[in-house]
Amino acid sequence: MLNEEKLLLNNGIEIPRIGYGTYLTSPRKTESLVRQALDLGYRHIDTAQNYGNEREVGQALKNSSLNREDVFITSKTQTIGYDSTIRGIKQSLKALNTDYIDLMIIHWPNSDNEGTYRALEEAYKNGLLKSIGLSNFNQNQVKHILDRFETKPVVDQIETHVLWQQKKMHDFLATNGIIHESWSPFGEGMDNIFQNRILNQIGEAHGKSAAQIILRFLVQNYILVIPKSTNAKRMKENLEIFDFNLSDSELKTIRMMDKKKSYSGWPSSMQEN
Ligand SMILES: NC(=O)c1ccc[n+]([C@@H]2O[C@H](COP(=O)([O-])OP(=O)(O)OC[C@H]3O[C@@H](n4cnc5c(N)ncnc54)[C@H](OP(=O)(O)O)[C@@H]3O)[C@@H](O)[C@H]2O)c1
Repeated sequence: MLNEEKLLLNNGIEIPRIGYGTYLTSPRKTESLVRQALDLGYRHIDTAQNYGNEREVGQALKNSSLNREDVFITSKTQTIGYDSTIRGIKQSLKALNTDYIDLMIIHWPNSDNEGTYRALEEAYKNGLLKSIGLSNFNQNQVKHILDRFETKPVVDQIETHVLWQQKKMHDFLATNGIIHESWSPFGEGMDNIFQNRILNQIGEAHGKSAAQIILRFLVQNYILVIPKSTNAKRMKENLEIFDFNLSDSELKTIRMMDKKKSYSGWPSSMQEN
């Protein structure tokens, strides 16, 4: 993997700029899809306790020819408070069949964010988690964590795509040394985005698809992406975004597509940014 295909987190660890998403991938299909992704060249897999497929992600890595340190694994808590999060981390380690998780993030804000983050921080200090972070936290919720803990979150994973670019949140995160990570980089295909005329026109100029233009736009704006596809051709296509550059005027054109439109409307607290 080339250096330009990685970003440096605020704790000195590198993360591949593109990962493979596994939301709603049934445990039955996860092992073969993740194995396919690894064979195609993905070196970053995004899973979660909530997805119920950590075990199969671990199995795919074990059955591949790769070493543990070759692949960056992110998982997400589904627990509230210190005690259950400590237990959850142990269960995730067991399910993933690994001694450490590269990045563990709080999946969504809960009634005890402090206790939850305290457990992540402790596991980080013990080496069980190499990095810790947040997901679906708005500015005030991120500030709350920054004000109370010595270990900064490395990422905030939030819904981000061309129709909701999260510019204000991006600038806030960048100011605080936190990497902006996009979930649903295609907005799950909302508003016929793959057929969008502007994206396809820009794509034609580069010999690329609308999907590749979307991913390139996000990556070129220092946003991590974790697209999901269950189709090998599209999985490969999504990886092929590091051999071209969008010009300033193309970036500006895509920037103007922002409608601040969430495809999910979830969590509603994100609308406060
Ligand atoms: N932290 C959170 O709360 C949160 C929430 C949601 C998602 N996530 C993470 O983000 C990942 C990605 O989000 P997502 O799975 O919701 O959706 P997504 O990646 O935005 O979109 C997936 C859809 O796009 C299609 N697609 C993928 N590549 C394509 C291409 N090159 N051309 C045309 N269509 C393409 C897929 O169809 P095919 O399969 O047929 O290709 C699928 O229908 C998740 O898997 C998960 O890991 C996190």
